[in-house]
Amino acid sequence: MSKNKNNKPVWSTRIAKGGSSLFLRVGSSINVDKRLYKQDIKASSVHVEMLLKKKIISLQVKNKIIWGLKKILNEINKKKFNFEKQSEDIHMSIEKRLFELVGEDAGFIHTARSRNDQVLVDFKLWMIDASEDIIKEINLNINLIIKVAEKNIFTIMPSFTHLKNAQPISFSHYILAYVEMFNRDKKRFLNNNETLKENPLGVAAIAGTSFNIDREYTTKKLKFKKPTSNSIDTVSDRDFVLDFLYTISVCSTHISRFAEEFILWNSDAFDLIKLKDKVVTGSSIMPQKKNPDTLEYLRGKTGFAYGNLFSMLTILKGLPLSYFKDLQDDKELAFKSFDQIKNCLQIMREVLSNFTINKKKMTQLAKVGFITATDLADHIVREYKYPFRKAYSVTSKIVNLAEKKGKKLDELTIEEIKTIDKKLDEDVLRLFNLENSVKSKKSYGGTSFENIKKMIRKYKKNV
Ligand code: ARG
Repeated sequence: MSKNKNNKPVWSTRIAKGGSSLFLRVGSSINVDKRLYKQDIKASSVHVEMLLKKKIISLQVKNKIIWGLKKILNEINKKKFNFEKQSEDIHMSIEKRLFELVGEDAGFIHTARSRNDQVLVDFKLWMIDASEDIIKEINLNINLIIKVAEKNIFTIMPSFTHLKNAQPISFSHYILAYVEMFNRDKKRFLNNNETLKENPLGVAAIAGTSFNIDREYTTKKLKFKKPTSNSIDTVSDRDFVLDFLYTISVCSTHISRFAEEFILWNSDAFDLIKLKDKVVTGSSIMPQKKNPDTLEYLRGKTGFAYGNLFSMLTILKGLPLSYFKDLQDDKELAFKSFDQIKNCLQIMREVLSNFTINKKKMTQLAKVGFITATDLADHIVREYKYPFRKAYSVTSKIVNLAEKKGKKLDELTIEEIKTIDKKLDEDVLRLFNLENSVKSKKSYGGTSFENIKKMIRKYKKNV
């Protein structure tokens, strides 16, 4: 617990006896929130500048406090600061040190503010930077995906629905789907700024303050967009934490789906890709094994991201307004999710830089499952003016015939095809070519090689 200059808790004049030592230990958040020291010092500095501007404190007091805060920042940066285990949190810890450095005048720092708004301003400042940081990481992933895509425009594979072969696609088109997901993740982080950038400083404990403070000034100096509008809501609100945890959870979901897909494709059953040694681990008993643990880590850790989001939702659901100690855990959840998503994004990049594509196997797999059947149906609509449903029915009969004869579609002769519909001519045979199929999907957003090239150019401009 933070002590005043007499080495007693700041509330010792009110609460005479020392509290439970167990609770002092487990209830302290210093080990978690010491991470906010820069933001705390920055916000406190702006706060005292504002107090001077509004003539609430003297220039001499302001100068003393700013000097003390700078010294503390320096001490922490140089690892010479003692984050006492007994300090309840980073805010009390810094205040205590300020008392040691500048004496009684340190006490002016807490004029017209409470730890409730102090915690929030620090936390929001941290989260604004953290979100930017994650966006930068996401951009690295996007760049790498584009590189992989550029090298594989003409790599053909089957696409899957229900994990059954659907239609031929380019591998680039597949992997570029993750650029779209990551771009949405970036947008979500940016959208969060709308409320994240509302400045809580100045709402004090819950009711606002009787001092004539200037919240516009602190808003501008701390680069927020506007001050929050209701002091009670402000000290109770953790929606911005939910937004952050949710946004990370969605991003994590994308990474997890990628991981799952690559695990499947790397399996001996699929054998479509091969992970290099850098991103596999071995077995303690089976000498031959190379396991995709990195990908399994990405998939597994997504559960943690969801867990953190659900912890925060659960903490909030029964809380009356406004501040309760329950809220203290918000920071641990956000920090953990943040650290984890950064690791996961990096590990995903390691995987993307360390795998090879088994192109032969991809083509082989694309040749099974009558994957070009839709191309034939489309062709019949176009060339023979059949309604799509009729073309679908003719095509499915041709598929049935091929299946019965144990042939692939491109192994059927025109005579065999004509037994289903005698109007069909030799032209239909070229429909079964995988490359022709991919090439033909020219509609906006489709897998044609031309579309992919255009999309790659567009993505490159936007990163
Ligand atoms: N460490 C506390 C937290 O993060 C500080 C807020 C304290 N406010 C209070 N009213 N006790 O939630």
